[in-house]
Amino acid sequence: MESIAFNIDNNETLIKNIYLKKRVETNMQANRKEEFNNLVTRVEASFESHFKHQARWIATAPGRVNLIGEHTDYNGGFVFPMAIERNIVLAADEREGAPYGNTEITIYSENLRDKQTLKIVNNTIAKTGEWTDYIAGIFAGFLNLGVKFKSLDIALDGDVSIGGGLSSSAALEVSVATLLEAVAGKTLSPIEKVLLCQKAEHDYPGVPCGIMDQFASVNGKKDHLLLLDCESQQAEAVPFTSDQYSILIIDSNVKHSLASGAYGKRRTECEVATEILNVSTLRQASMVKLEENANKMDPVIFRRARHVIGEIKRTEQAAVAMKAGDWATVGNLMLASHYSLRDDYEVSCKELDILVELTMELGEAKGVVGTRMTGGGFGGCTVSVVPTSEVDDLIAGVSQRYTEKTGIEPAMFITRPAEGARMI
Ligand code: GLA
Repeated sequence: MESIAFNIDNNETLIKNIYLKKRVETNMQANRKEEFNNLVTRVEASFESHFKHQARWIATAPGRVNLIGEHTDYNGGFVFPMAIERNIVLAADEREGAPYGNTEITIYSENLRDKQTLKIVNNTIAKTGEWTDYIAGIFAGFLNLGVKFKSLDIALDGDVSIGGGLSSSAALEVSVATLLEAVAGKTLSPIEKVLLCQKAEHDYPGVPCGIMDQFASVNGKKDHLLLLDCESQQAEAVPFTSDQYSILIIDSNVKHSLASGAYGKRRTECEVATEILNVSTLRQASMVKLEENANKMDPVIFRRARHVIGEIKRTEQAAVAMKAGDWATVGNLMLASHYSLRDDYEVSCKELDILVELTMELGEAKGVVGTRMTGGGFGGCTVSVVPTSEVDDLIAGVSQRYTEKTGIEPAMFITRPAEGARMI
């Protein structure tokens, strides 16, 4: 009798736990939905208060996080990102009675509390050196396609932290491109849109980025990561549906600027390696070939190429392991990626290394799968795969220890893979 009673108790506890867990998850989803709806309402209100009429179009695009495959996109390699539940939202309308031709675009950013006006003169739009260059570049892309614009008013706001390594710039570009598709009545194919946004970032703010960020923001798929082959520009959606694990993003709150030169320098170093190895991209090189040519190159160039060639392999392996539910392998590959970015590619920093160390230290007993820096580096965020049931404890523990060690308060949130850009 006793043992039956014990089992019944156990079952009840189990059912209660499953019920509670489901409720927490449903609450999290409901909260995210509510936060997003609030963001949309705020942007609409901001539009009305600054431009004194109602917005006609609402567009949104998400930021992204990359699980593995860092600094491989501009080397023709694999990346494994997903869109996150953090977005930029735009509200817009054409100005009353505004003719086509010499046109003004007025933009108010709630995040920056700043209003700027761009001018389109003779079908061209000038660079200003301001944050609006990310927007001007997208207009330039559409002007090149022969689109004509009337004067437009735009209000924007978002919850993708600016310069935090979660692609706030790609989210801004892609949200503007999505808006302009609606304004112009011209739908681009997803890859045309990605490439237009990437070109805008190259030509206007002048950041020589790869295609990962824009691709994830355009093509994000709920509950899926995207295994993107940056050579063929084709992606495979890999399911991430397990409730057991969550994606935890920790912002070191140390900011970096990719435009500041280090990113471009890494690209140039990779080009030097491809020349010495006589390949078109590092995707075409193997570790054996690199070793054979080691004596022909500077040790720094050797280490840069070793990171890229190794990281491309790790990314393919991580996708295979995730499909097989082999989380231990996914975690080992994430850690190997971090150490390679820290030691060979030298794009990590003290704060990111501390976050990785703390997450693994505190996470070992809690079944943390893996963690690493994510994005361009020199600050920004780490990405971790953690058991959903341990999220609260981990957030509290890592947060306290990180602040003790660095004097900086980190920001943290969990996210599921989200949908890409769309009109609302
Ligand atoms: C930035 C760039 C991307 C990519 C990453 C590093 O986010 O915009 O194209 O190169 O850095 O993986």
